[in-house]
Amino acid sequence: MEEVRFDGRVAIVTGAGGGLGRAHALALAARGAKVVVNDLGGSLRGDGDDRAAAARVVGEIVAAGGAAVPSFAGVDTREGARSIVATALDAFGRLDVVINNAGILRDVSFHKMTDDDWEAVVRVHLAGTYHVCHAAWPHLRDAGYGRIVNTSSAAGLYGNFGQANYAAAKLGIVGLTKSLAQEGDKRGIRVNAIAPIAKSRMTETILDAPTLDRLEPSLVSPLVALLASEACPANGQTYAVGGGYFARVAVMEGEGTTLSGEVSPEALAAAWPAIDDLSGARPFASAMEAVGAALGRL
Ligand code: NAI
Repeated sequence: MEEVRFDGRVAIVTGAGGGLGRAHALALAARGAKVVVNDLGGSLRGDGDDRAAAARVVGEIVAAGGAAVPSFAGVDTREGARSIVATALDAFGRLDVVINNAGILRDVSFHKMTDDDWEAVVRVHLAGTYHVCHAAWPHLRDAGYGRIVNTSSAAGLYGNFGQANYAAAKLGIVGLTKSLAQEGDKRGIRVNAIAPIAKSRMTETILDAPTLDRLEPSLVSPLVALLASEACPANGQTYAVGGGYFARVAVMEGEGTTLSGEVSPEALAAAWPAIDDLSGARPFASAMEAVGAALGRL
């Protein structure tokens, strides 16, 4: 296969002042992309701000011979997202790639979760991804080309104790990704998501050191680069990635069963093994396809 390059392309990476975002920004820049390194620079909980994080990563890219500018705006407001996109257009004159990666954590069991814990996490992850996509979308549509890579999580795909806020936001990002993929398809825009696992300040207190050492963020970025490239082989998909492991994740629907006689709770209980059976499960490319398949079985 031809080398994956981003010469002449402009990319935004949100939350790129550290962890995974920094690795993505370095990877894209090393392959020729001009990069907007966005980071608010707050704490893991989302408190405060600090320009040093984004500035440092810009320094790393420039020192390696690449092109990058910082953006210190928050992704979680319309104004912040617009300013991130404006930074790309002002500095480099175009926009091709958006990597939505910024995030915070407010882990707490549900019975102790405050409205503020819920809202802060949904605002940064889900609304933040929305705002940046929405600000970038008209430019990608007009150009007839775009690549968006969003960041989900195993917590969203499978649920996780103490992360109801984060899980809800992260699965919301999967729905957003799938819908934008369908809307962008005819305009040359491809939108995919990753569910990564990597060493960062998010994981350093929950995984042991030997495990963390096998989970370098730089092992996630090659997938982000492929999905962000002209050669992007997918649209509307989600991939689990970390430590050199890569796998597609899909929502599947079983073959199910159609009740022809009485439709009652008792009849459902009797049919439960067939309803629950996933052996013939398959994914669908759109809600319309899934609904069509269900109607076709009646
Ligand atoms: P991190 O905390 O190092 O990176 C997140 C970055 O986002 C930080 O630099 C932070 O300053 C920035 N940020 C936070 N709020 C922002 C805002 N409103 N606007 C702009 N920037 C903001 O953590 P990590 O692990 O690198 O996380 C990156 C993404 O990957 C997150 O979306 C996270 O939820 C996701 N993820 C990470 C996993 C892991 O194993 N590290 C697992 C699953 C998902």
